[in-house]
Amino acid sequence: MATEKRADVYLGGPATIDLLVAELSGLRAGKARELAAGVVSLAPGALVDPAFARQVLPGAREASGKSASELAGAILDGAGLVPDLEVTVPELERRGSRALEQHPLAGAEAELVNLLGKKVAGRAVKHGEARVPGVRLRVLLLEPWHAWWCLTPVRDVPPLLAWPSPFPGGRALGEAPRDAPSSAHRKLDEALAWLGVHPREHDLVLDLGAAPGGWSSVALGYGARVVAVDRAALDAKVAAHPRLTHVKQDAFGYLPEETPTWLLCDVIAEPARSFELARRALESPALHALVVTLKLKRPAKLEVVRAARALARDTSGWLGRCKQLVANKLEVTLLMRRADLAT
Ligand SMILES: C[S@@+](CC[C@H](N)C(=O)[O-])C[C@H]1O[C@@H](n2cnc3c(N)ncnc32)[C@H](O)[C@@H]1O
Repeated sequence: MATEKRADVYLGGPATIDLLVAELSGLRAGKARELAAGVVSLAPGALVDPAFARQVLPGAREASGKSASELAGAILDGAGLVPDLEVTVPELERRGSRALEQHPLAGAEAELVNLLGKKVAGRAVKHGEARVPGVRLRVLLLEPWHAWWCLTPVRDVPPLLAWPSPFPGGRALGEAPRDAPSSAHRKLDEALAWLGVHPREHDLVLDLGAAPGGWSSVALGYGARVVAVDRAALDAKVAAHPRLTHVKQDAFGYLPEETPTWLLCDVIAEPARSFELARRALESPALHALVVTLKLKRPAKLEVVRAARALARDTSGWLGRCKQLVANKLEVTLLMRRADLAT
């Protein structure tokens, strides 16, 4: 029932934890220790934003108990009565692109959420303790009944810039499938959730490497016109859409007749090539936003990831982030939108 150590805890994908560790070692001091699949801890230090981390619990404390009730009690003894709660569990490794089965900790997670909520309400009534406003209690449950938790201020910051992420565990989407030609649409759905904006009816979306058409169908769903560039065939339903034009040619040589307002690129190519395409696209005064996948190979070179993080952070007039999304395998997504784009 002890509340012990303190650490910065970073969460990423179980299959790319080595890349998170490598990125962390380049960004800050301290040796990363693996707490669970996809979860590492370091002694408290500078808060950094690696592309391979989807969530962070800064200055987290460890707590455990013999039961859910004991664990909830230990956390609230340290945190105070915080009604703004977020409980999450480490990510499971994905096999293929199917939705995940139920998480083995789902039952324990639900029990802990329930008990924390009840205890906050109960202690407030019984002992007249005041609830703590303006902070969120973030709990990462590693096993029954062992967790790390931290308190972070609640700020009105868009998801694209917020860190810790406002998405529990850094996971922006649920697992619900959508009617689309491929599961690749999940990458764009997740990217748009981080961006906080989506294409609209007046937008012209250039979708490079579009086949079979998952991303194009997302953009069409928002009412945009789409130019889909891919030598491969599109799904018949997407190809027949009246707002879509399919251009069968090399994405890197294509010069659009009409200037696009959104750029999407999911081409399987050297990451430096896709990065350069994104960098040049940002020079277009007509562009509102872009989502560009940078595909890596093992052994992964992180230079391009570093360059993408710098571009996202330092391009004047733009807000951006480079993240490995839940739907990304060995790849990261460059997400950028104009700072003055209406949300
Ligand atoms: C991962 S898939 C894209 C999936 C797509 N985003 C979706 O939602 O359905 C990558 C695509 O890039 C295309 N591709 C690869 N090299 C290309 C190139 N040089 N020009 C155009 N398309 C290319 C492939 O044909 C493939 O359809």
